[in-house]
Amino acid sequence: MDKTLIVLACLCGFAAAQFGGFGQSSNPAFSRNQQPIQPAPKATYAGSCPELNGTYPVPGSCDAYIQCINGTAEERLCPDGLRFNPEAAGYPCSYPNEVACLERSSLQPAQPTDQCEHQFGYYKLGDRSNCSYFRNCVSGVAYDFQCPEGLAWSSASYRCDWPDEVEDCDAEAFLGFRCPEVPVSRELGPPAGFRYYRAENNCQKYFLCLGTKPRVLFCGKNTGYDDLTNTCVSADQVDACPVQLREEAARARAEAEQLLAKELEFNAKTTNKRRNQF
Ligand SMILES: *[C@@H]1O[C@H](CO)[C@@H](O)[C@H](O)[C@H]1NC(C)=O
Ligand SMILES: *[C@@H]1O[C@H](CO)[C@@H](O)[C@H](O)[C@H]1NC(C)=O
Ligand SMILES: *[C@@H]1O[C@H](CO)[C@@H](O)[C@H](O)[C@H]1NC(C)=O
Repeated sequence: MDKTLIVLACLCGFAAAQFGGFGQSSNPAFSRNQQPIQPAPKATYAGSCPELNGTYPVPGSCDAYIQCINGTAEERLCPDGLRFNPEAAGYPCSYPNEVACLERSSLQPAQPTDQCEHQFGYYKLGDRSNCSYFRNCVSGVAYDFQCPEGLAWSSASYRCDWPDEVEDCDAEAFLGFRCPEVPVSRELGPPAGFRYYRAENNCQKYFLCLGTKPRVLFCGKNTGYDDLTNTCVSADQVDACPVQLREEAARARAEAEQLLAKELEFNAKTTNKRRNQF
């Protein structure tokens, strides 16, 4: 969780530093919960500005656009790696995952550096079995990141995703876990859509098999995976957890119980006091 926050904070920092008022609309880190923008139908540029201020596509080009300022038109180019987004509310250039070029198929020549194929963008690093690293290029300078454990960088969605949903990731090789085959039972039919398996060597880690492909999941602080209930329970109740974790979990549980007892006592006292007042 902490890692995610750091990554998100970094991405915002770079975007903001580069583009000044670069809104959330173009930041892939925020695209998950975003409502699609409903733009008003846009006038097109045909030799003169339809409105005093506005941006308009250049026919055939995915990264050039016309910007009208006070009724004066100027042709501009998005930075290399970004594309003109007619739907954008603020800064008119977006990452490729947000813009379908369609018939606007031409792009400026790439300006690669020794670290980046384009000046801007997000790029997957590693291979099919090493899916979690990605690179953010900002003005041709590379900043490398790693997805939170168990997630893979998706070039399609431009974010860290479940590895089974990332086309160029081999989830089994990446997670080092193969979902056991479950025989089709004559009485019960095919196995349930998802199954859970404990991980070897880590009592807080477990796998979820969706069909044949695994996802890795983690129990929270002081909890461990319990195979009987397929849930995370206090680690002191999980034999597979190391002694230190079990002791810590037991201590935390005892403290929580004490706190609860105190609260109950306090509530009982204040209720009695109030009762005596009236
Ligand atoms: C645009 O016009 C406004 C009002 O006429 C003026 O105050 C402003 O300086 C102009 N801006 C530019 C960039 O020309
Ligand atoms: C157009 O943009 C200019 C410069 O940013 C600004 O001064 C002017 O008020 C804007 N005009 C309209 C109608 O929004
Ligand atoms: C995975 O990819 C990253 C980024 O390219 C690289 O630094 C790392 O060494 C790779 N790990 C393995 C095990 O290949």
